[in-house]
Amino acid sequence: MAKLRSVKGMNDLLPSEIPRWHRLEQVFRDTVHRYGFGEVRTPVVEPTELFVRGIGDTTDIVEKEMYTFEDKSEKSLTLRPEGTASCVRAYLEHAVGNVEPVSKWYYIGPMYRRERPAKGRYRQFYQAGCEIYGDPGPYVDAELIDLVVTYLGRLGITDVEVLINSLGSGDARARYRQALLDYLRPRAAELSEDSQRRLERNPLRVLDSKAAQDQAIAAEAPSLLDHLDDEDRAHFDGLIATLDAFGTPYRVEPKLVRGLDYYTRTLFEVKARSADLGAQSTLCGGGRYDGMIGDLGGPPTPAIGFAIGLERLLISLPDETPAPTLDAFVVVQRPELAVEGAKLARELREAGLRVDADLRGNSMKSQLRRADKSGARYAVVVGERELAEGSVQLKDLHAGTSTSVARAALNETLAGE
Ligand code: HAM
Repeated sequence: MAKLRSVKGMNDLLPSEIPRWHRLEQVFRDTVHRYGFGEVRTPVVEPTELFVRGIGDTTDIVEKEMYTFEDKSEKSLTLRPEGTASCVRAYLEHAVGNVEPVSKWYYIGPMYRRERPAKGRYRQFYQAGCEIYGDPGPYVDAELIDLVVTYLGRLGITDVEVLINSLGSGDARARYRQALLDYLRPRAAELSEDSQRRLERNPLRVLDSKAAQDQAIAAEAPSLLDHLDDEDRAHFDGLIATLDAFGTPYRVEPKLVRGLDYYTRTLFEVKARSADLGAQSTLCGGGRYDGMIGDLGGPPTPAIGFAIGLERLLISLPDETPAPTLDAFVVVQRPELAVEGAKLARELREAGLRVDADLRGNSMKSQLRRADKSGARYAVVVGERELAEGSVQLKDLHAGTSTSVARAALNETLAGE
């Protein structure tokens, strides 16, 4: 029989790897809570139409990468490839805009894209993201970018580059589209197959193409920033002035466009400079999408957000010794003392300590070896004599010392560390 394996590009995360994940998640939660975000949890499965309309049907995601299937009632469903469209669906479904003028949401969870797996690119991957509804910016745009840089900094990821651009909005966007078409049409024959096909419907996609021949043509294309109208320009200037006031480093990248169709005005990416991630160096992508809520049937509502790829952060994370997950390891002198050992472990856990024990009946030596490996600072040895005296042997596994401690004083001794 063939071996059972996880789906290609979808990985298990074993308990030994999880402490690093917890750290990413805890620091993320702590950071976004400081900015007033509340957590939202939406289903991983949504109606396919949400992503087709929300993300755009000429994007790589919708054209090639979605996990779409029919359920028994022949409804087309899709595993979410990203969080933004789902959040907007929930925001509209619960008419949140009627009860609060500005909403600040965050999420952490798995996303699904059928991309070619590589280091930093998977078919199930985790994103941590934020979305803000009801604030047109630009100050909040700068705040969001600063939040990402602050978060990465708290993790020790400081060698990053922040790229910003504005896609403009409304008429300016339409004018730019036309200018780009005028530039691309005479060069159509030199473009990749994908870009030729998308040219008329969505010329901006060509700028985001990974094909070398497209990139050469995109490099000479007219710049978005030259086509901004006065309001778009003022918005972008406001973003820059606020980032300058914060001292947040950034680089204006006029050719930056991203793989999703919903963006308007502010667009940003945070890239890792280290070589570890190769082509997958984009840690975070985000931007404003002032049109999406209206397009999906809601009242016109400005919106902005970002998402960070957690696997990519993990690869960029500086090495550090993981914090121990146990405070103490209970060891019994003889197998007959197993119940006493289990009882002691239970009492210590009730007192809030993280405690494990190995009560399979092995020798003390073997139990102490496990205690050592567990990372716990202390082994608490339960012996016949100590039991009679109402005490235990406390072995400091770091210092290699051993003392007798009254049972009554044990909780405090352990908790004091
Ligand atoms: P995105 O650029 O498609 O944007 O993805 C954001 C981040 O998710 C990427 O920068 C990357 O770190 C990570 N990521 C994307 N695809 C993969 C993959 N196949 N494997 C591993 N990591 C991946 C969005 O998803 C937007 N929803 C961001 C946003 C929120 N814009 C506004 N609000």
